Parts: sequence; C-alpha cells; structure tokens
Amino acid sequence: MGKKRNIHFFIKAKKKRQKISAITAYDYNTSVLASQAGIDLILVGDSLGMVIQGRENTIPVTLDQMIYHTRLVTRARPDSFVVGDMPYGSYHVSLDESRQNALRFIKEGGAQAVKLEGGQKRFHTIQALLDIEIPVLGHLGLTPQSIHQLGGFKIQGKLKRKAEQIHRDALAMEKMGVFAIILEAIPEKLGREISRSLKIPTIGIGAGRFCDGQILVMNDVIGLSTTGYIPSFARRYADVGAAIRQSLEHYVRDIQAGDFPAPAETYPTGKP
Ligand code: KIV
Repeated sequence: MGKKRNIHFFIKAKKKRQKISAITAYDYNTSVLASQAGIDLILVGDSLGMVIQGRENTIPVTLDQMIYHTRLVTRARPDSFVVGDMPYGSYHVSLDESRQNALRFIKEGGAQAVKLEGGQKRFHTIQALLDIEIPVLGHLGLTPQSIHQLGGFKIQGKLKRKAEQIHRDALAMEKMGVFAIILEAIPEKLGREISRSLKIPTIGIGAGRFCDGQILVMNDVIGLSTTGYIPSFARRYADVGAAIRQSLEHYVRDIQAGDFPAPAETYPTGKP
C-alpha cells in the first residue's frame, strides 16, 4: 500500500519540485487501479458526461450522477486524494445551494475536496466552501462548462489580454485559498508563467511541460473509446477498447462453435 495523500501533500510536492500525477476516474475498479499505480489525485470529473454517458459536452451532467460516481470511486478507499467535480448549475445559483451541493460530495460521495471552474468571479463561492471546511481545486483556461460562452472547445489565452486575465485569475484563486489549480488548454508559455508565480501547484491538461503536475482523462490514457478521438495533448498508453472488442469477438466465436462452456466451466452433477 502506498501513502494516503492528503491536502498537505500537494503544497509539499510543489516545494520539493516533485511532479503531481492526476487522472480522472469514475468507478470502483479504475479507482483501485489508479491508486495501485501511485496516482496522487483522482478527479471524478464531469467529463464522465462525454466518456461514460456518450454526450457531446459536460453541460447536462447532474449533481446526483456526480455524487453516484464519486461514491463508486471512494468506495475503493484509494490512497489517491479524491476530488469531486461540481457539475454545471450546482454552484451557479446561490451560495446556499453551492454549499449544500458541495457538502453532498463530502458527506455522501466521500470526496476530500471539490473542483469548480472559473476565476475571480467565483470569489464568494470559494470563500463559502472554504468557510465550511471544504478544500477547493480551481480550474482555469478552457473551462468546458463555459463552452457556449467560449464558442466551443478551444485553446484559451493565446491573445495577450486573455492570457493576462487567466494569470490574474490564478493569482486571485491562490489568494482565495484553493489548494491547487487545473490549467486546461493554454499555451505552454502561459502555463509556465503561472506555475512559476504561484506557491500552490498547477496541474496541467494541455498546458505544457512546466506545470507542477499533469492530469488526463482516464479513457484517453487507456484507449477506452469508440470514437477514436483523442485530444492532441493526450497520450494513449494502452488500447483497452481494442482489447475489449477482440475478447468479445473471441467469446462470440467460442459460443457459436460450441467451445464455450467447456466441461470444466460447468457444475458437475451433484449426488441425488
Ligand atoms: O471533467 C474533467 O475530467 C476535467 C479534467 C479534464 C480536468 O475537468
């Protein structure tokens, strides 16, 4: 068994210049496997709307669905630090609702922290969650819950004005007290500048080599996809999709040929 990660791990890792490894997971088995592999942080991401539910984006994902998947992940008692991703609409209406919804991730889901998207405009929400002892992970750059406002899944911070805005947001979020910030789909130079100017760690996804850690979507890493699409910044380490299809084709062939089940795969006749 590895060492159980807690909130202090992340700031210590940054001080020691030890890179943070993070991945998304959505169920019990992948949570066990991620923990066994030594992953520092598991995000139960609302990306599950796309990679588990087959939707076009994360907008329709509900709070109940997120709590359900968070519970599956934490039931594995991983050594990794588990963060629940607050879905669109769950922290946008009122502070009171945001608190109630974040509390569900901790009390029902068993998460150790929550993530939410957006910078300075989340000041009051982040404060409200920290006030009730819920650690918060920030998320800047390409924030998928804002795709309608951003005009799609596009790299952010290419223009100087926008890059400066993201940098200001990162500094403001550090001041607010988030324990780390995910930087998604921004130029490497901006990822490096932000990472250098913060004491808290940055965890990049398509944000270049100089972030303090990296996160990817589990399905992209293991090749569990039927669309064949993989973002250019992701790296596929396995082709689990092909392995599943090939094993199922083999199973079908064995049934059709009468090769399955074999005698050893049947219950012997019992004594009458
Ligand atoms: O929902 C998610 O999986 C995420 C990661 C891509 C960072 O937000």
